[in-house]
Amino acid sequence: MSTPQDLPSTMQALTFSTRGLPPQTLTPNTLPLPSPLLGTLLIRTSYASLSPGATIMMALFPSIMYRYPAIPELDFSGTVVAAPPTDATGDQADSSAFKPGDLIFGSIPVGLHLRGVGALAEYIVLPPSTVAHLPTHASISEADMLVQASGLPVSGCTALALVKAAKLEAGMRVLVNGASGGVGSLVVQMVRRAVGVSGAVVAVCSEGNAEMVKGLGAGEVVDYVTHAPVYEELAKRCGLGGEWGVEFDVVIDAFGVQELWNNCAGFLKKEGRWVTVGIAIGEYSVLAMLGAVGKMAGNALWPVWAGGVDRRYIQVTATANGEELKELGGMVERGEVKGVVEGVWGMEEVGEAYEIMKSKRARGKIAVKVDSRRE
Ligand SMILES: NC(=O)c1ccc[n+]([C@@H]2O[C@H](COP(=O)([O-])OP(=O)(O)OC[C@H]3O[C@@H](n4cnc5c(N)ncnc54)[C@H](OP(=O)(O)O)[C@@H]3O)[C@@H](O)[C@H]2O)c1
Repeated sequence: MSTPQDLPSTMQALTFSTRGLPPQTLTPNTLPLPSPLLGTLLIRTSYASLSPGATIMMALFPSIMYRYPAIPELDFSGTVVAAPPTDATGDQADSSAFKPGDLIFGSIPVGLHLRGVGALAEYIVLPPSTVAHLPTHASISEADMLVQASGLPVSGCTALALVKAAKLEAGMRVLVNGASGGVGSLVVQMVRRAVGVSGAVVAVCSEGNAEMVKGLGAGEVVDYVTHAPVYEELAKRCGLGGEWGVEFDVVIDAFGVQELWNNCAGFLKKEGRWVTVGIAIGEYSVLAMLGAVGKMAGNALWPVWAGGVDRRYIQVTATANGEELKELGGMVERGEVKGVVEGVWGMEEVGEAYEIMKSKRARGKIAVKVDSRRE
């Protein structure tokens, strides 16, 4: 086990010093090792995972909001290497809950991230309230769990928030759009548990991911590529004389497709709930971002008499925190959910990893191995 005396004085990290899309803006850098303050943890990173939200921040947030050089990404798994005691003010979560050598997973809060802290670095200093112990499971090796858990924080907390907002009950019929992505693959598993065997979970994803999504709990899959526009296919199957003949109680849109919402009256019950991550932007531009924000506000507020959609629109915004990470860890330990990972890339291959993430076709999460010593 490492002690602070064994630690190097510098660390390797990827950094960016200008607004723009990764990987073009990223360069390898040697930085001073961050020092843990009282009540914080010094963590050696094993794996980080890439998230669309972190890329949106890098590409679109004005430079003035970041402290450069900044390190990309929020979510990670790793090992506690130092845990100085909680400070006298007691306003930190208790760092004594963690000791050197503990395996953990966690997420860097956006406020700290904007001050330059990121997960694509060998070491991170964080308050203990942002991490949880790594779950264990008899059929998952420690190495695999570190990979899986690095992708859980933001996606998992978002999936939890979506499912809680959906107010699911046993027997309900639920449609999950974007079911094969980082958020959607977790949502499908949580929804199946909530609605039980008497409920129906229908997933929307591409054909190549259909078997994987069925393995997570979806009873049926509708391929949005073959059946474009998919809202017509859904309305046909839900309509009178259709294959299902009944509409959904809840739609969870884990990807964010505006035209699906615009046309949901054909497949979502009038009293049903539309619960969504928001709207996926087509391109990384400020205009696209502002357009999406405007549409989201319109979706929630536009009155039906003025042409709004006659269904309830609930948009969820989630950030990861220690309590919810513990909840997710418990679900993994009980075998209720597992993290789906597209693959693991090395720090030197991060460019390829970002291109796959930006393609919006990744199956689950994209992990990056930060600790090159770990097998
Ligand atoms: N509100 C929040 O707090 C919050 C938090 C996290 C993420 N998000 C947002 O949620 C969205 C999803 O995040 P994520 O991490 O899951 O993204 P992701 O992993 O990049 O999503 C990729 C998946 O999206 C699917 N997909 C692509 N186009 C689709 C379409 N037109 N219809 C249905 N599915 C489609 C792909 O499925 P196939 O390959 O099978 O086609 C792929 O599996 C992003 O827009 C992200 O910014 C919001």
